[in-house]
Amino acid sequence: MRVLGIETSCDETGIAIYDSKAGLLAHHIFSQKAHNEYGGVVPELASRDHVRKVLPMIQGVLKEAKLAPQDIDGIAYTAGPGLVGALMVGAVVAQSLRFAWDIPAVGVHHMEGHLLAPMLEANPPPFPFLALLVSGGHSQLIKVTQLGEYEILGESLDDAAGEAFDKTAKLLGLPYPGGPHLAKIAVLGNPERYAFPRPLLDRGLDFSFSGLKTAVSNAFAKSDKSEQTIADIAASFEQAVIDTLITKSLRALQMTDLKQIIIAGGVGANQKLRDTLFQLGEKQGFKVYYPRPIFCTDNGAMIAYAGCMRLLAGEIEDYKINVRARWPLTELKSPSFIPSPLAGEG
Ligand code: KG4
Ligand code: ZN
Repeated sequence: MRVLGIETSCDETGIAIYDSKAGLLAHHIFSQKAHNEYGGVVPELASRDHVRKVLPMIQGVLKEAKLAPQDIDGIAYTAGPGLVGALMVGAVVAQSLRFAWDIPAVGVHHMEGHLLAPMLEANPPPFPFLALLVSGGHSQLIKVTQLGEYEILGESLDDAAGEAFDKTAKLLGLPYPGGPHLAKIAVLGNPERYAFPRPLLDRGLDFSFSGLKTAVSNAFAKSDKSEQTIADIAASFEQAVIDTLITKSLRALQMTDLKQIIIAGGVGANQKLRDTLFQLGEKQGFKVYYPRPIFCTDNGAMIAYAGCMRLLAGEIEDYKINVRARWPLTELKSPSFIPSPLAGEG
């Protein structure tokens, strides 16, 4: 089955074609620039940019995969959670094309897309596994038993990890989206110069990042604001977030007795987080899987993959435009028939 994936939940337009036998055939991502001068995503601008990009990008992936519309067997689009106007662009295009092409469509949960993104790689993780899902809107530790069977073991009580990165980066005068910019200057800094708090470190599996943000803000206000100091603050902040995420992940592995963990979501693109967890895995005997960095942040390939699994399981959406700003992951159900894992990218 060949599935066209459409992701428009926030400020990335992601379009991809996934083939259940051959793997990923093509994928394009457009990161919107319209928001940069506002220091955050402006929903109306996001919707307008998706409208401009979706159809030309669909033509682009078809051309790259050397396929015609009649070669596509199904369409998957992100139905939530996300910005409603932005989601509606993807949903309307997906439902219109499926009507015109007379093929099934399915609305995909954005976070299920992130959770399954490691399946796009050459060595996909076998079920069950632990997932550290860290994005701009979510920080969660999830036990993934199989497609659609997700148990949330811990989550952020306030800011998501990506949100903490973005807010701290903004404070330090870095461009939006801040995470990658902060990570870049952190490489030049001393992570031990500032002892920022690691809230809730000694107990449970929940996270809290708002106190950390306040501590960084105070340290910055008192500092000389030199380039080196800013790099030191960035490195110390990044270290505090990574220490927290990793301590909780290790605790969750121990509590669940799972021996494999995946990192997914935008913050999963953070190289230091990836390296640190990988090295710990080698030492402590658990396996770490992650998608390539471009599939950690929002993309169409993960939606095409998750949609392909759901379509193969027999799920078909009605002819309705149905999107949700909020949509708890735990509302998802396992299909009665679960297709075997599909081709990763060899
Ligand atoms: O998954 P994603 O693309 O969008 C959401 O679904 O939220 O995640 C975006 C988040 C942003 O907060 C961004 O700053 C963060 O991921 N991010 C990073 C890095 N790359 C992206 N945070 C830390 N280090 C990175 N290298
Ligand atoms: Zn995302």
